[in-house]
Amino acid sequence: MDKKKIRKIQKKAQKEIKASKNLTDLNNVFKSYLGKKGELSEVFRFLKELKGEEKKKVGQMANQVKNLIEEEIGKKSKKIRKTEKKKEKEEWFDITMPGKEPVSGHLHPLTQAMRKIMDIFKSMGFEIINGPQMESEWYNFDALNFPKDHPARDIQDTLFIQQSEKERAGPKQRLLMRTHTSPVQVRYMEQNQPPFRIIVPGRVFRHEATDARHEINFYQVEGLMVGKDVSVANFRAVFEEFFRRFFDKKVKIVLRPGYFPFTEPSFEIDCSCPICGGKGKCSTCSGTGWLEIMGAGMVHPNVLKAGGLNPKHWQGFAFGGGVDRLVMIKHKIDDIRLFYSSDLRFLNQF
Ligand code: PHE
Repeated sequence: MDKKKIRKIQKKAQKEIKASKNLTDLNNVFKSYLGKKGELSEVFRFLKELKGEEKKKVGQMANQVKNLIEEEIGKKSKKIRKTEKKKEKEEWFDITMPGKEPVSGHLHPLTQAMRKIMDIFKSMGFEIINGPQMESEWYNFDALNFPKDHPARDIQDTLFIQQSEKERAGPKQRLLMRTHTSPVQVRYMEQNQPPFRIIVPGRVFRHEATDARHEINFYQVEGLMVGKDVSVANFRAVFEEFFRRFFDKKVKIVLRPGYFPFTEPSFEIDCSCPICGGKGKCSTCSGTGWLEIMGAGMVHPNVLKAGGLNPKHWQGFAFGGGVDRLVMIKHKIDDIRLFYSSDLRFLNQF
């Protein structure tokens, strides 16, 4: 054992102290030099075998190095403790602080409106019925008493499904995207005996150029009530109740004479503008105080017949119109295309 070896131990220890990243590292360094089997402890054990002057010199030096290592470990440990404390302080957080609320989605304004409409009618004893979006020409037009040359059948207004000559041999085979929810009237009559009352919410399609008021697809709700003596007065009562509850306001309703092939008499339903209270002072009603809102009428005898019902025994009312339009009026929305734009700035307002 000579001085050179002790210096070497010192250098190595210093290097390891410097490289220590935490207290465990440091503790290991201490053990491997100053612990029972540590390198420096070996040196002290070896001293016994030396004598006189040499023993003294080597002993002194080993003591110096021991002190030095102890001192450096002490310093380093202080330093590590300090940075660990600082880190703890930085990472500390107040667990009693309220958390960030996760963003949750919500129903589309049209879905909200459809659900509200369904709830209102359900409470008046109406059943909710669905029908196919792809329809035959027969249910969409013929069964509803549309004349053969009615312009609505025109390819300009209706989206027909591409079929071969053979595939669309008869009107029941000729397929299209339904232009209204009225075909479900006949489908339901075929399967059910009156008295009944149903509403049919659903998607409809029109071959149209889109603008602020027109969309290629939109939503309608259809109503049908058939019984022995269902009258226009019943219709008025049901409809007024629906309107009052949908708009959360008392609204006046006016039935104007109208024309639909599948109802007789037919009405256009106007309601007093829920925005300006019928005063005629807002842009929603273009200053008239009234809004055209839906079509309606007493079910045409030919439609009852098409559904397999005897018009001598049964009568009823039907109505139908755009859900989009109702929501636009309710929330003063001026462009129907917003419903289908997936624009969150719009959707998040509901
Ligand atoms: N189906 C008609 C439309 O789309 C509305 C309507 C339904 C009218 C029922 C009368 C009776 O415009």
